[in-house]
Amino acid sequence: MPSDISLHQFFDFLRFGSISTDSKYKEQVLGCAEWVRNKLTTIGLEAIQHETPGHPIIVARGPRKEGRPTVLIYGHYDVQPVDPVELWHRPPFNPGIENGVVTARGASDNKGQIFAHILGVEQVLKEKGDLPVNLIMLIEGEEEIGSPHLAPFLEAHREELACDVVAISDSSMVAPGQPTFTYGLRGLAAIEVTVTGPDHDLHSGIFGGAVENPATVLARLIAGLHDRNLKVNLKGFYKDVRPLQPWERKTWKRLPLQERELLKMTGVRALRGEKGFTPLERIWARPTAEVNGIGGGYQGEGTKTVLPSKAQAKFTFRLVPDQDPKKIIKIVQAYFRLHAPPSVRLEMVPGHSGEPYLVDPNAGFGRAAQKALGRLFPGKKPALIREGGSIPIVADFKSILKADTLLLGFCLPDCNAHSPNETFPLAHLDLGARLNRYLLEEIAAAG
Ligand code: BES
Ligand code: ZN
Repeated sequence: MPSDISLHQFFDFLRFGSISTDSKYKEQVLGCAEWVRNKLTTIGLEAIQHETPGHPIIVARGPRKEGRPTVLIYGHYDVQPVDPVELWHRPPFNPGIENGVVTARGASDNKGQIFAHILGVEQVLKEKGDLPVNLIMLIEGEEEIGSPHLAPFLEAHREELACDVVAISDSSMVAPGQPTFTYGLRGLAAIEVTVTGPDHDLHSGIFGGAVENPATVLARLIAGLHDRNLKVNLKGFYKDVRPLQPWERKTWKRLPLQERELLKMTGVRALRGEKGFTPLERIWARPTAEVNGIGGGYQGEGTKTVLPSKAQAKFTFRLVPDQDPKKIIKIVQAYFRLHAPPSVRLEMVPGHSGEPYLVDPNAGFGRAAQKALGRLFPGKKPALIREGGSIPIVADFKSILKADTLLLGFCLPDCNAHSPNETFPLAHLDLGARLNRYLLEEIAAAG
């Protein structure tokens, strides 16, 4: 269990409403950045807060010595919005503990996990006055909006950030007590589409039938994104998809995260998805087309007989190796352009994007990471998995810093990341701190 002081500090960290996407929270994001810099300084790192056109990036370094590997630990202090806020059992930025579990926005994604790493570094520095590797901690405030200022920052600070490997805990374990090593992430491409018909909302009795309804048009376009087997029905969409390896299909079938667990976590009546693949294969290794939000017309109480002027939807496409987000956006735009009827005006605004990531789990420092995970749960072999989520900067670590990333997340799959009532088991603070210690030791021993 963490000390009272650590717990107190963790709660201070969680109290910042560091929602990066919403400008109303800018001050809180900034306050959170300052808190992180201050914490890293007090544990004995040399920490600098770099301003960007968006939210600050914090870079901190441990003692540097010749001849040992440099490890860059990445995390983010920004969080997702809290709505629908009425579904929270407590205010999202007023953390509390119940049955050993902390509830707050960001508890798992990513404050709990990055704070555990900080605690691990703090403990070792206190004990030994040094770390087994040269350490860089890079903690940013824009991960949840696609890290728009981090890649240019990496370019500009390429030498200062040079490292042998990157480590990130911003993903999940497949089950409690099951060490998990993630060797792949999906990428993503976002786009917002607005369909405009008449130049103002119309009486649906006076004009309905002669003027086409933009909400109906948008619904038709959305419905056409999938075929009857729930494959994405866009020309060229699957062209660059790398097939699953037989060993992946075989080992994933044995993981303690299958249909039953997914049904329980989500509350759906049945799972459904692309024909020919298991649920885990669909989430981790197959691309998807998702509507993240949809609107248009009257949403208030009762009825209003209106033919809306506009309808709008936000989409993200989750991508797998070797799909290219730029090519996918072109394919999506071509689809909407081709199928939108001449009765409406189409507006398409691409959003952020990120490339997918995949490495050999046994290459580079992969084995060192697996050893560290093995020490954390003696007698258990780490599960080798991919994840469906995206951490867009991982591909940039590879292309700009030429470093591979070890993904060693330790939140639980039912932690409600991005949902109301996000949680993090308190015991995982200590777990993450120990993981940090073992990981740095194993990388030093391997490197
Ligand atoms: N921690 C997640 C990414 C993640 C989730 C990795 C689950 C593995 C498993 C991260 O904070 C996140 O939510 N990323 C966004 C990126 C997007 C906003 C560019 C995502 O995946 O939606
Ligand atoms: Zn997230």
